Amino acid sequence: MLKVNEIDVYYGDLQALREVSIEVQPGEVVSVIGSNGAGKSTLLKTISGMLRPRKGAISLNGSDISHAPSSRIVEQGISHVPEGRQIFPTMTVLENLEMGAQFPRNKQVQHETMEQVFGYFPRLKERLDQKAGTLSGGEQQMLAMGRGLMSLPNLMMLDEPSLGLAPVLVSTIFEIIAKINQRGTSILLIEQNVFNSLKISDRTCWKMAGLRSAEQVRSCLKIPIFVRPIWGYKINCGLRALEPKGREHGGWWVEGEGLLIFNFIL
Ligand SMILES: Nc1ncnc2c1ncn2[C@@H]1O[C@H](COP(=O)(O)OP(=O)(O)OP(=O)(O)O)[C@@H](O)[C@H]1O
Ligand SMILES: [Mg+2]
Repeated sequence: MLKVNEIDVYYGDLQALREVSIEVQPGEVVSVIGSNGAGKSTLLKTISGMLRPRKGAISLNGSDISHAPSSRIVEQGISHVPEGRQIFPTMTVLENLEMGAQFPRNKQVQHETMEQVFGYFPRLKERLDQKAGTLSGGEQQMLAMGRGLMSLPNLMMLDEPSLGLAPVLVSTIFEIIAKINQRGTSILLIEQNVFNSLKISDRTCWKMAGLRSAEQVRSCLKIPIFVRPIWGYKINCGLRALEPKGREHGGWWVEGEGLLIFNFIL
């Protein structure tokens, strides 16, 4: 479905991504974890057309979208819920949601879609006329996700949706992301919350800054793994599932099943 192939992205002279590749197949949840400044948000901004790759290509269902305008990318089914929510604070909850339904095919079914959004986030329905800027942090996150759903995405990209939320709300947000996925939307998730994102992910990519070669990554991955049954995870696959995917920031980008990386990090 989505294929990012060895992209380089720059801010002026500063290179933020180097030869990054990642794929999301229909129905998958793929998460990306990594340190601050690693380029996670840059990756999502490039996929959604806010930044352009200087090298490499991005394709969606086989057609190249590397240089497509953002609006066309949304129209083709990718919605981006950005870091820091970026809702319109002086507009009401209702107006913010309406902004998510930009295209005629979305507008026609706007009321039905909004009911689905209220199914996920009943709180939004209670606050339809409230100015978005006066919502709590958690409610603003719900609104940002609700707005993202209004364009009926096939792929929803979420940039740190749990950031700054109380633990109980973090769990709710992750449950809702899993539900959205179960109803057929693929998810590309950026998170610092490793435990929760691995729980709901099919695959996880992890940036390992500082490792300079594929060999170093491989040897690093041979470090003994401590199994923590307390978390309730089964060990059902081997280290070979992890493999270096591409270079970035002088470090490496590795990919494998969430479970493995989870254990490795512990
Ligand atoms: N508009 C910009 N102009 C110049 N440099 C930028 C800009 N935005 C980001 N950068 C730089 O690009 C690098 C990657 O930033 P990015 O926001 O993608 O990181 P991130 O992985 O999302 O970090 P965080 O976890 O803190 O959100 C950083 O070094 C950052 O300083
Ligand atoms: Mg970021």
